[in-house]
Order: sequence, then C-alpha cells, then structure tokens
Amino acid sequence: MRGERRKRDGRIEWRRWDPTKSKVAAALQRTKGGPSELLPQTGSTCLYLGASSGGTVSHIHDIVCGAGNHHGGQVVAVEISPRMMRDLAALAEGRNGLVPVLGDARCPEMVAPFIRGRADWIHQDLSIADQAETFVRMAVAFLAPGGVGLLSLKAASERASDGDDDSRFAKAERILGESELEVVERIDLAGLEEQHVVFRCALGAL
Ligand SMILES: C[S@@+](CC[C@H](N)C(=O)[O-])C[C@H]1O[C@@H](n2cnc3c(N)ncnc32)[C@H](O)[C@@H]1O
Repeated sequence: MRGERRKRDGRIEWRRWDPTKSKVAAALQRTKGGPSELLPQTGSTCLYLGASSGGTVSHIHDIVCGAGNHHGGQVVAVEISPRMMRDLAALAEGRNGLVPVLGDARCPEMVAPFIRGRADWIHQDLSIADQAETFVRMAVAFLAPGGVGLLSLKAASERASDGDDDSRFAKAERILGESELEVVERIDLAGLEEQHVVFRCALGAL
C-alpha cells in the first residue's frame, strides 16, 4: 500500500500494520484476548464489509491467502464507492483469493453470489447509521457457527437522536445482545481510533 513501511528478510517481507489507520490492528493492541481470537485463520473464508481502497483487507489477505493464495483462502471485500473500488480492484489483481464486490454491504443478496460458503470471519466497518442492525443481518446470513464477527462501530455515524457516544455504544451492544449474536468482547479503541469501539461477536445459542 502507498507509503507503508516494509522490511525484507531473505524471502520474507514484513509490512507495518498501523493501528491508527486500521481498526482491526487497533483492536489487536487493545483486546484482552489473544490475536487468534480476533484474526482469521489461514485458508479460511472471510467477508469484509466496507473495504475502502483495501488497506486492512490487504493484511487480512496476507494472513488468509498468502502469496499466490497458497493457503486456499477467500476474502470477499464489499465496497459501495466506485472511486475506492478502482483501487481495491487494482489490489485484487495481484492477490488471488481476494474478491472485490462493488455494491451495498447492507444487502445479503449482494454478497451471496460471490462467497463460497459461510464465513469463518466477518468484519464490518461501514460509516452508516444503523451499524448494529446491519451487522446482525449480515452475520446471521453469513457467519459460520464458531466463526468470529467483528463490528467496528463509529459513534459519529449513528443517529444524533441516540444521544452521546456512550449511549450510542450501549444501544448498539443492546441490539447485538438481543439478536442471535453474542457479544464476546467490547474493545475500546480510544487513543488509536477515537469514537470507535470494536464488538467481537459469535453466533449465540438462542
Ligand atoms: C471507514 S471506511 C473503511 C476503512 C477500511 N475498513 C480500512 O480499514 O481500510 C468505510 C467505507 O465504507 C464504505 N461504505 C459506506 N456505506 C457502504 C455500504 N452501504 N456498502 C458498502 N460500503 C459502504 C465507504 O465508501 C468507505 O469506503
């Protein structure tokens, strides 16, 4: 990605994953759990809602697919902005297993034709109102039993009538808790990504 720091050690290349530019990287620093509870496994099926130009997606792809997709993973990345999609599509050209989808990430029928099965890992990072309701709809449609669901919630994107940041986060947590999902951890990103919380969720037993 443009301007990122890289280091080479023989055949291995390391890329800096900046926690001030990626909510998944920020959540990794702030979680009380281990990285394996937040990150997808190699070779798994992943759904990324709100991919932008692919900054975080590229790191998820490194983990899940690896060079040439020798791990056999799939990362379906949905983005509504044609401008962002141009960069994302260019990124996907060199990354087997990355499937860019131009469309509305609130609609399961937009995603269904492109994903090869239920997702082991879902991350939603959409700057829209009703982020929790959307996440419930998409996770119920696609998350595999035992899979990891991450909702990056931006307080400022929720409706002003929902009060201050704390009450917007509390409302979202209530919506998640009253659904088929279970909130496993609430991760506050203060200091890295202001006004943001990541909810780590799993399919609950209703
Ligand atoms: C905060 S940015 C995502 C940043 C990205 N996750 C990363 O870490 O690199 C939110 C993105 O969601 C996209 N977006 C907003 N509404 C959307 C929708 N309904 N469907 C798909 N993408 C949407 C925006 O165009 C924007 O690129």
